[in-house]
Amino acid sequence: MTPENRKRFHFTAWIIALLLGAGAATLRADVRPVPADPAVEARINALLEAMTLDQKVGQLTQISGGKAAEYNPGAVDARTSDLLQQIRAGKVGSFLNALGAEYTNELQRAAVEESPHKIPLILGYDVIHGYRTIFPIPLAEAASWDPALAERSARIAAVEASAEGLHWTFAPMVDIARDARWGRIAEGAGEDPYLGAAFAVARVRGFQGDDLAAKDTLVACAKHFVAYGAAEAGRDYNTVDISLQTLHNVHLPPFRAAVRAGVGTLMSSFNEINGIPGTAYPYTLTEILRRQWAFTGFVVSDWDSVGELVEHGFAANDTDAAVKAIQAGVDMDMSTLAYRDHLPEAVQAGRVDMATVDQAVRRVLRIKHRLGLFEDPYTDPGRAPKVLLCDEHRAAAREIARASMVLLKNDNDTLPIKPQVKSIAVIGPLADSAQDPLGTWAGQGKANDVVTALTGIRARAGDDVKITHALGCAVQGGDTSEIAPAVEVARGADFVILIVGESRDLSGEAHSRTDLSLPGHQLALVKAVLSVGKPTAVVLMNGRPMCIPYTAEHAPAILVAWHAGIEYGHALADLLFGDHSPSGKLPACFPRNVGQLPLYYAAKSTGRPLEEHDPYTTRYIDSPNSPQFPFGFGLTYTTFEYANLKLSSTAMKPNGRIQVRVDVKNTGDRAAAEVVQLYVRDLVGSLTRPVKELEGFRKVNIAPGETETVEFELAARDLGFFGQNLEYVIEPGQFKLWIGPNSAEGIEADFEITE
Ligand code: GLC
Repeated sequence: MTPENRKRFHFTAWIIALLLGAGAATLRADVRPVPADPAVEARINALLEAMTLDQKVGQLTQISGGKAAEYNPGAVDARTSDLLQQIRAGKVGSFLNALGAEYTNELQRAAVEESPHKIPLILGYDVIHGYRTIFPIPLAEAASWDPALAERSARIAAVEASAEGLHWTFAPMVDIARDARWGRIAEGAGEDPYLGAAFAVARVRGFQGDDLAAKDTLVACAKHFVAYGAAEAGRDYNTVDISLQTLHNVHLPPFRAAVRAGVGTLMSSFNEINGIPGTAYPYTLTEILRRQWAFTGFVVSDWDSVGELVEHGFAANDTDAAVKAIQAGVDMDMSTLAYRDHLPEAVQAGRVDMATVDQAVRRVLRIKHRLGLFEDPYTDPGRAPKVLLCDEHRAAAREIARASMVLLKNDNDTLPIKPQVKSIAVIGPLADSAQDPLGTWAGQGKANDVVTALTGIRARAGDDVKITHALGCAVQGGDTSEIAPAVEVARGADFVILIVGESRDLSGEAHSRTDLSLPGHQLALVKAVLSVGKPTAVVLMNGRPMCIPYTAEHAPAILVAWHAGIEYGHALADLLFGDHSPSGKLPACFPRNVGQLPLYYAAKSTGRPLEEHDPYTTRYIDSPNSPQFPFGFGLTYTTFEYANLKLSSTAMKPNGRIQVRVDVKNTGDRAAAEVVQLYVRDLVGSLTRPVKELEGFRKVNIAPGETETVEFELAARDLGFFGQNLEYVIEPGQFKLWIGPNSAEGIEADFEITE
């Protein structure tokens, strides 16, 4: 393509993007803003006419606490505080953490029957991976590479949480994370925008269902808008300084997918982006979210993130913070009370237009309408006992946990455990932990609900297999005095299951780590137990990728089981004993060491791509560049062979598409699922392009000896990117594609996008 043509092409694509980005139109025709309902708009107009400024700002105020004592002894209880008074005065429009049908009905009654305009409350809570039935942490669920499972768990969570009076969940968290030191990598879908977008859509659909007014739905909240996962050094709340191209090409896609899926709310982020805090950034909150994506829901701040504009050094005081946040596009203030206490004066001083306040109130009232709260604000207390932790939900938790676990190594078919094994040693500080499988952000999950690994293994092994158990050491701290007894327990068994990793409090918010190796004396325990030489499976219980170089080299088998929820033990046993084959694939790579981070497969080539024997290429002198285990990697109890890669054409126009098909054969003797992955590389671009990008995946179950033909459709439109001027460009040129079992291997083909 001549430079002139390329410029022309850019210009055309740019004009298209500009036109689409203008006004209510959207960047892509498939963004479907929810159409305004004239009757609702009229009702909102009437309320805005009648409301005082204080009452309007009350609708933009969310207060924490008000949690019934039976849910959290010592928490603020509205029935014994002034919170009911504030509700009756119309000074608060939303609570977070208020739980329980009876209790929330009391709060709601004060709003609907006693406040000036009878506007119902919207009640939110962090329903991140289950409400009472706790599923695998979101990162683990993403390892299933089966968005339908994520939709199912979100649906179940909504059924349970709504039965306890909730209307809104602060989920899905869709932050792209490429630095496993960041504790919140546990809450998202890992390192890749394509996989992240697929799970964002699934979770929004699961929480919101087909009709938000149905009583068993929650309005979802895509968070944290935006780029929170790019915190420097993986340190939580730290500075984010990235190019706007990276913002658009890496961090925004899952949010746009959530908006396209109809998410009702977003949450603004704590972090700054290139000097402007995410909670006061007009470019993201208004230009992108409203103008380009035509988002019609509302934005809530993160906890105190309005007030924290002062700590950022971006606002002089709380009034300044309130002004900057609402003008940027944050509609509701979570817990700072800066809107309630300072917006009225700012409006009276002319610093904020009343129209801006009205716009925010309108957005909030629209969602309250879409939830049906004006018509039916109360919760039937009879629902919760029927749905919380019911057998169907527990069965789903077991299936999803099973699908999330990733087999990283299985030398000599160590797994599954063979029928002739008559004694099993279950060793490790997490082997019988009931708390830790719940993971971070576990809602109303309870340790008593959890099936521990030891319990699950005992139940599956049956009475004719002797099960012995030893702690070996603590997760952290402690001493090594229990290692020798654990070694003796291993010596006395036919098979050893060694369960090590992170306790639930080692990942999640405010839990970044600089050391991703096995905490405490666990590595010493691993070394000592492996030295016994028995068939051994190391099972990780973890909230993030970990650095396990010794274990990777010396353990015969490794299964990543994550913090996999209440059915941890049964799901683990299902796989260890071979009742099901592992089918998970890594949603984020496992680094060899912390020094490699941030580390991700979709990296740029650089001008000096690694050449094994050339020291003057991009490399370390003390570590390979490659991860210990790559993105998309996972084994199973059979083998698959990829063949006959075919393209319907090796060329397509910028508005064209090609079909890609491949045969995948199960060449082993056990049925299993394979996640077939499609990666693409744009060889030359007006910006440097990643060496690989995930552009499709399909999880297929294949019986032994059978061949499955897997088809993908590649649209040129999806191979574009946000270029130098942040326009979306689809550039003609040469491309490569790979289809394979992970990001590091596959069969290759070439194609091009023509003029
Ligand atoms: C927290 C988190 C956010 C959560 C909110 C409410 O600080 O950053 O993800 O939804 O506060 O609990």
